[in-house]
Amino acid sequence: MEFFRGRRLRNTPALRDILRETHIKPADLVMPYFVVETDDENFKKPISAMPGQFQLSLAELKKSVELSISHGLKSVLLFGIPKTKDPVGSEGYNENGIVQQAVSMLKKHFPELIVITDVCLCEYTSHGHCGVLNEKDKTGVVLNDSTLELLAKVALSHAKAGADIVAPSDMMDGRVRAIRQALDKAGYVQLPIMSYAVKYASAYYGPFREAAESSPQFGDRRTYQMDFGNAQEAIREMSADIDEGADIGIIKPAGAYQDIIRLMYDSFDIPLAAYQVSGEYSMIKAAGQNGWINEEAVILESLMGLRRSGAKLLITYFTEELLAKGLIK
Ligand code: PBG
Ligand code: ZN
Repeated sequence: MEFFRGRRLRNTPALRDILRETHIKPADLVMPYFVVETDDENFKKPISAMPGQFQLSLAELKKSVELSISHGLKSVLLFGIPKTKDPVGSEGYNENGIVQQAVSMLKKHFPELIVITDVCLCEYTSHGHCGVLNEKDKTGVVLNDSTLELLAKVALSHAKAGADIVAPSDMMDGRVRAIRQALDKAGYVQLPIMSYAVKYASAYYGPFREAAESSPQFGDRRTYQMDFGNAQEAIREMSADIDEGADIGIIKPAGAYQDIIRLMYDSFDIPLAAYQVSGEYSMIKAAGQNGWINEEAVILESLMGLRRSGAKLLITYFTEELLAKGLIK
């Protein structure tokens, strides 16, 4: 043979179609929503750093979800913004809290929808950290073991409300085990845990902190989230979470960490989810709105990279738009 003619298989759209190795279906996409505790039923506030995304009242959440289900939406990830915050984030485990209300509302109206809840304290603590602090501590060092108990209460309250999957995002050590034990003890042995097992301390979360009103009031999250120079550490984190009972593992952020997604795929055998975070979303949106890139094409390309790397589920703020435009069907 003279030389390799790769172009033979690229000559027509039909040929390229039948030979494509990787696909994205509606079932692969998870849409995050921000639900606000408010008396204003019509509350729908644009998130300025995330064009096209909103903070929603329960009634507005229902409308958005209903429409998206008609476009093929299969699963959602819920974040809550409570009316009041305190140092221990007690609204996070209030059985009548905003996320708990959202879960039971969604499961009542849309029983087929997979409702995943983010389990963390940062949206509910007055200081904005993902766990509790030492009373006088202004360094932002979060107390690990006393936080575990509270996270287990948050997860259990979501389970009682009817959540299909709970997703702890706090990065405390031992939280998957604490949550698994609490769920099992209460009879929720069948409820899966989707752990944010590999979560880096990332500047890509910037826009989210406006969306969820969860910026740390002092310090940062680097004593609990991972250093972005580390890959081996991802193996330790993921294997610990699997040992403790994680059923699905999240890697977050996604685009800048595709090597880590592939490493996890090659090293472990549980389903993986890649979280294309707020900053990744906003950068594509901004360039698209300026006419600098073909936005729809870049969205699909960015997500295909995550699927190719080994992620089954794609948590992305583009979900609604992709389904509404029929770009993924
Ligand atoms: C909170 C949480 C964060 C995100 C998901 N859960 C932010 C953070 O850790 O500061 C980020 C999501 C995004 O940026 O889209 N534990
Ligand atoms: Zn948090």
